[in-house]
Amino acid sequence: MTSGETEPGRRLEGKVALVTGAGSGIGQATALRFAAEGATVAVLDVRPELAALTTMMIEKEHEDHAMALSADVGRAVEIETAVDLAVAEFGRLDVVYNNAGNMGLGSVADTSEEDWDRTFGVHVKGTFLTSRAALEHLGRGASIINQGSVSALVGVQYLAAYSAAKGAVVALTRQMAVDLAPHGIRVNAICPGTVRTPLTEPMLRARGDGDVEAGIAATVPKYPLGRLGTPEDIGALAAFLASDDAAFMTGSIVTSDGGMTAQ
Ligand SMILES: NC(=O)c1ccc[n+]([C@@H]2O[C@H](COP(=O)([O-])OP(=O)(O)OC[C@H]3O[C@@H](n4cnc5c(N)ncnc54)[C@H](O)[C@@H]3O)[C@@H](O)[C@H]2O)c1
Repeated sequence: MTSGETEPGRRLEGKVALVTGAGSGIGQATALRFAAEGATVAVLDVRPELAALTTMMIEKEHEDHAMALSADVGRAVEIETAVDLAVAEFGRLDVVYNNAGNMGLGSVADTSEEDWDRTFGVHVKGTFLTSRAALEHLGRGASIINQGSVSALVGVQYLAAYSAAKGAVVALTRQMAVDLAPHGIRVNAICPGTVRTPLTEPMLRARGDGDVEAGIAATVPKYPLGRLGTPEDIGALAAFLASDDAAFMTGSIVTSDGGMTAQ
C-alpha cells in the first residue's frame, strides 16, 4: 500500500498494536492516538491499575476494543505470556511500541550498580525481550518502534545509566532494522526531548531546586521552539511510524525535540 491510499486520521484501521508502558505519559497518549487512528490496542504496563485506566479511556473515547495487560518487560516469561494473550484475544499483531521506561538520576560517580542494572533491564533488555516475543507474530508490513531519547544523542547532565541505555536502544534499532528488513518488518526509534510526565518530574524538580515549574523554566531555553514536548507530540509521531505512511522508513532515528539537538 502507498501512503496516498491511506485515509488521513484512520491510518491504523485493521491493525493490532501493543504499547508497553501504556499506563502513563507518552505510552498512554500513544495508545489513545493509535485507537483514534483505528487500531485495536493491547495496553501493557507493569502496574495493572494504570493499564486498566488507559484501557477504560480508550473504550470511553473511541468505543474501540482494547485490552489491559500487566507484565514487566524485563522478565521473559511475563512479556511472552502477555504477548501471547494479546494475540489470542485479537488474532494478530502489527505494531509494537517499546516505550516502557524508568529514569534514575546520577553521574557515573554516583550511580549504583543496582540503578545501572534496573535501567538497562527495562530499556535495553525490555526492548529485546518484547521484540523477541512479538516477532513470531509479526508479518510483512509490521512496524516496531523503539523509544530512544535525545540523551542517546547528546550528553544530558546526571543521566549516566539512562543515556547509556538509550544509546543501546538506538544501536539495537539499527541492528534490528537490518535483520528484519528481509521479512518486511520495519524498525525505527523515536528520540523525544523533554516531555513533562511522572518520569521527568524528579529531574525537573532537581533542576528547579525543588520546584518543578522552576525546573521547566530552566529547561525551556534549551529548546528552540520555546516549549517542552507533550505526550501527544510523541504519540503523533509514533502513529506515523506505525502506519503505512512510513512504509519506506526503517532504521531511522527520529528526533521530536523542538530543535534541541539541532543546535
Ligand atoms: N518524558 C520524557 O521527557 C522522555 C524523553 C525521552 C524519552 N522518554 C522515554 O519515553 C518512555 C515513556 O516515558 P514517560 O515519560 O511517558 O514515563 P511515565 O513514567 O509517564 O510512563 C512510563 C510507564 O512505563 C511503565 N513501566 C516502567 N517499567 C516498566 C516495566 N519494567 N514493564 C512494563 N512497564 C513499565 C510505568 O509503570 C509507566 O506507566 C520511556 O522509555 C522514557 O525513557 C521520555
